[in-house]
Amino acid sequence: MTTTIELGGKTVNRLGYGAMRIVGDGVWGPPKDHDAAIRVLRRSVELGVTFIDTADSYGPFYSEDLIREALHDGSGYGDVVIATKGGFTRTGPNRWTAVGRAAYLRQCILMSLRRLGVERIDLWQLHRIDPETPREEQFGEIKAFVDEGLADQIGLSEVGVEDVQAAQAAGLRIASVQNRYNLGDRRAEELLDFCTREGIAFIPWAPVDAGTLARPGGPLEDVAKQHGGASTSQLALAWLLRRSPIMVPIPGTSSVAHLEDNMGAEGIELTDAEFQLLSDAA
Ligand SMILES: NC(=O)c1ccc[n+]([C@@H]2O[C@H](COP(=O)([O-])OP(=O)(O)OC[C@H]3O[C@@H](n4cnc5c(N)ncnc54)[C@H](OP(=O)(O)O)[C@@H]3O)[C@@H](O)[C@H]2O)c1
Repeated sequence: MTTTIELGGKTVNRLGYGAMRIVGDGVWGPPKDHDAAIRVLRRSVELGVTFIDTADSYGPFYSEDLIREALHDGSGYGDVVIATKGGFTRTGPNRWTAVGRAAYLRQCILMSLRRLGVERIDLWQLHRIDPETPREEQFGEIKAFVDEGLADQIGLSEVGVEDVQAAQAAGLRIASVQNRYNLGDRRAEELLDFCTREGIAFIPWAPVDAGTLARPGGPLEDVAKQHGGASTSQLALAWLLRRSPIMVPIPGTSSVAHLEDNMGAEGIELTDAEFQLLSDAA
């Protein structure tokens, strides 16, 4: 199984880390334990993570600030790709509103550049397409980010095949999409197949949420027993990595123990029969 992918201008490990869980409850405010958040970020890189997903709206801003504090080496992030997002405003804990006006998107990327301490964002993702703003305005401004060298690559989030095609038709080269997808929620299957054919990285969020498949006595637990008591999170991630070579899961956690558990998924090779059993279980 291929363990790496070209993304954000670098060759990265396909098992990444999602930095949404290192901030306060409701993805709002600072983390309860600042030092623990820093430890999780540094441990992720020690364990081989080279793709970290964040967004300006995580906190807002705390996630990007913590990444810089934990991982910036004075000139940048070395081999590690930091993928961020913009276009989602926050009006309180667990509250999100898409704003895709060109001026706002430009402010998003300029402020992410400043916070992350880089001259170019490796992978900048539009967090949501704003239904209230013409798409041409959003896609046109984002294309300018690449043309001006503010972003190396562009991704979309929570989209359908038609959205990706519309962005491509507007002249955007889409390097990645990020949709909710996991063992228990396969609604993005058509998009995943499209991305696999097109060679677009697919970044599934909520990757360890296997829903009822992870229940005691469920199919994940059965397969886990065959793998020396692997955790259900590890199996959910191993299934994703096996599902497509363009899959880049970004499990999110605020805990070093859970991070270490998740990274253990790399050592799990599902048999064809196990992969099929889990694929058919949803
Ligand atoms: N594009 C979007 O719209 C969007 C939306 C949501 C998220 N995201 C991105 O996707 C990333 C992943 O999504 P997510 O964080 O919502 O879901 P997730 O990675 O599937 O699950 C995170 C939850 O599971 C727990 N967890 C993680 N590993 C575990 C383990 N080994 N054992 C037990 N519990 C574990 C975490 O709690 P603990 O902290 O206690 O470990 C956390 O509550 C986010 O961090 C973010 O970067 C993107």
